[in-house]
Amino acid sequence: MSFDFFLPCPRGLEAPLAAELAEIAAQHLDGAAFTAGAQVPGGVHFRGGWAAGMAANLHSRLASRVLLKIAQRPYRSEQDIYALALEQRWEQWFSAHETLRVDVTAIKSPLRSLEFTTLRVKDAICDRLREKSGARPSIDTAMPDVRVFAFLTATDCTLYLDTSGDPLFKRGWRLDKGAAPLRENLAAGILRLTGWQAGTPLYDPMCGSGTFLAEAAQVALNIAPGVERRFGFEKLKQFEARSWQALKGAALEAKNAARSSRADLQIFGSDISGDMLEKARANFERAGLPAIALKQLDARDMAPPSSAPGILVANPPYGERIEVRGRNARGELREGRGNRDDDGFRRVQEEAPDSEFFQLLGNALKQRFTGWHAFILTSDRKLPGQLRLRESTKTPLFNGALECRLFRFDLIAGSVRQRPQGETPAA
Ligand SMILES: C[S@@+](CC[C@H](N)C(=O)[O-])C[C@H]1O[C@@H](n2cnc3c(N)ncnc32)[C@H](O)[C@@H]1O
Repeated sequence: MSFDFFLPCPRGLEAPLAAELAEIAAQHLDGAAFTAGAQVPGGVHFRGGWAAGMAANLHSRLASRVLLKIAQRPYRSEQDIYALALEQRWEQWFSAHETLRVDVTAIKSPLRSLEFTTLRVKDAICDRLREKSGARPSIDTAMPDVRVFAFLTATDCTLYLDTSGDPLFKRGWRLDKGAAPLRENLAAGILRLTGWQAGTPLYDPMCGSGTFLAEAAQVALNIAPGVERRFGFEKLKQFEARSWQALKGAALEAKNAARSSRADLQIFGSDISGDMLEKARANFERAGLPAIALKQLDARDMAPPSSAPGILVANPPYGERIEVRGRNARGELREGRGNRDDDGFRRVQEEAPDSEFFQLLGNALKQRFTGWHAFILTSDRKLPGQLRLRESTKTPLFNGALECRLFRFDLIAGSVRQRPQGETPAA
């Protein structure tokens, strides 16, 4: 039996997600049904059996969820949506003993209240289950057993049953977050966009809690991103325990092999904050990763951590969200808006923090990282100008609701493309 699945992802990652899904099908589905579908803004469709849905949950590093399409129909009113939800055979999927949560998202819907629409979908599912089994499920918005998503366009309503449970960027091992961590699936998507391959040196000079590094190490060691967690589909009636055990068993075996691996991962990180590095170390340990080389260092003093050139990737502090730290040009440490870290390190705000910091960071890249390719994610479009470097490409990406660019700088010997001071970057 085949189903239509939709995998939402951070906007900008649709093409890499489609490529990842094709790889998952080739590597883990053993010829089981899988047909690639359309890429749409914010996600990718595919058609396949239960095994494909389970494998996507277990192995996708880029998807936010795996949603199973239940029904789709044009609508005009909340009543049309209630009728659509009431017709569906929810009793085939879950019973009234499971707790339920309904979410509605919409683009250009003519309906006035999404809250009211959410209530109507919930009512329809509860009415259906009461009619079929005599009992209504309870609602639990915090930790539901089952989630239903309704997606409204200007004309159509699509109902999805969630097979993931917690969103997939929750890998199940992270406790220490740090100040502004990237979501794991965005970090994994950026790694794919850089073209980084296991074995090539990878360096994050502002690694914070280590999201890029942990994702890269899991790729290098072939550790499935979902091997440490549970999924929504485990609570559904259609759950195929036997094929799930086979899929998960293979993933656990790969993870155990990784634990004893002595491979030189060539993955390196540094950060100015020792406190952040402690968080990163704790995260790597919880994720079952071998030690990753970390150093406490101001990024302006960075140097290549490997003899061969590689990929540098970072999301530096920007704007109000998190401050650049360190001494200013006169060597002064100034108290910033923040507080002392646990290790006594002072959060500081420089007088002209960003421009001075990024100019010196650009100098470090130009002078010391010949042959490297640097990828920097930021919401600040002026970054190349501040670094005094000309980008080779810029890829729009969304970090949650924040519109960002992934700038690529090719630091090729003798041809580092410098941006003249004062030149305004194109949008
Ligand atoms: C936006 S966070 C990076 C988050 C990281 N990608 C993660 O997933 O946790 C920016 C990081 O830059 C670090 N930072 C700030 N100023 C720095 C400097 N001068 N040199 C090196 N790191 C710095 C902060 O300590 C923080 O960890």
